[in-house]
Amino acid sequence: MNEFKIGDLKIKYPIIQGGMGVAISLSGLASAVANQGGIGVISAVGIGMTEPDYLKNFKEANKTALKKEISKARCLTDGVLGVNIMLAVTDAEDLINIAIEENIDVVFLGAGLPLKMPDKILEKGFENIKTKFIPKVSSAKAIRVILKYWAEKYKYVPDAFAVEGPLAGGHLGFKKSDLVNPDIKLSTIIRESVQEVQPYIEYFGKDIPIIAAGGIYTGKDIYEIFQSGAKAVKMGTRFVTTYECDAALEFKESYINSKKEDITIIDSPVGLPGRVIKNEFVNQINRGEEKPFKCSWQCLKTCNFRNVQYCIAKTLFNSANGKMHDGFAFAGSNAYKATKLQSVKEIFDELIAEFELTKLAALYPVTNELAIASA
Ligand SMILES: Cc1cc2nc3c(=O)[nH]c(=O)nc-3n(C[C@H](O)[C@H](O)[C@H](O)COP(=O)(O)O)c2cc1C
Repeated sequence: MNEFKIGDLKIKYPIIQGGMGVAISLSGLASAVANQGGIGVISAVGIGMTEPDYLKNFKEANKTALKKEISKARCLTDGVLGVNIMLAVTDAEDLINIAIEENIDVVFLGAGLPLKMPDKILEKGFENIKTKFIPKVSSAKAIRVILKYWAEKYKYVPDAFAVEGPLAGGHLGFKKSDLVNPDIKLSTIIRESVQEVQPYIEYFGKDIPIIAAGGIYTGKDIYEIFQSGAKAVKMGTRFVTTYECDAALEFKESYINSKKEDITIIDSPVGLPGRVIKNEFVNQINRGEEKPFKCSWQCLKTCNFRNVQYCIAKTLFNSANGKMHDGFAFAGSNAYKATKLQSVKEIFDELIAEFELTKLAALYPVTNELAIASA
């Protein structure tokens, strides 16, 4: 497996751990992945809920907790670290500014198109900021819109794009009907994305690598998606069932105990479909049961908290803490494949070995005669 580069940033292996909220990927998981030579990503969404007094001032708690998790991770690794920020939250700009102030290596910007960037970045100039900016999108069209806007407004283009297909865990940037459409494939979106960035690579004279996400679980999956032009992968689900993942054991066990038919789609108050593992809470929501709550802060720009059936932030935080009766686990379509807890190192070793084997098999296909001779 080759080194992965984002501008001048060198990453030993092209494996990125996807940011997982609320409180699933914090300093523990992120530092473990960074220590193995990938990019470890802290999820910023709702991170303040880990602070004891978060109800008093949620936005301040978010800022404090993000700073804390970044510095904890820095104590645990010298590797490459990122922060995942959802643009759909009301304090996205504050969180982006903190990540930059803390000199984080990479920022992933998802759940919305990153067009208008914070004034602090524009005043300083992208070239003078160490942090790399990576929008997370679900189509080549979104890449086109972002590139055109950034090129015209900022005379700068993002440092890479993370392209997430329909098999991913968490909120999904697809219509429900597209999620069951067999013609919508990650490999096709990756190929279209590679074409989309090409003219900008030439014009700006900088590489804009495409990172593939969604349903990538094995080293073979990594090899195959690289054949479509991806230079790295972003994996969430695979890293949940690790000792180092910051979620409670019950959350991880819900993966290990799940079956293929338990992985299902729900409507999230975010306004997007979400992939989860079915449990009693999910059944209640699907039956239309209301989950009354008091909104102490408006965390999502678009959440009409007086009308929504349940609070997504509280639901996700409950499950991260192992209260599976009051929440559900976001999970990718491959979550049922987990059979045990593993260390992040074991997963890296497996992924690299599988990748190299698949590569060898592709380079030196066993001919029928050889297969017969060795049988
Ligand atoms: C438990 C879980 C929580 C997630 N939370 C977030 C999140 O808060 N923000 C986000 O942009 N993506 C989130 N994701 C998506 C991941 O960052 C990653 O893109 C995705 O997991 C890739 O697909 P995979 O799970 O099939 O590997 C989440 C995924 C999972 C499994």
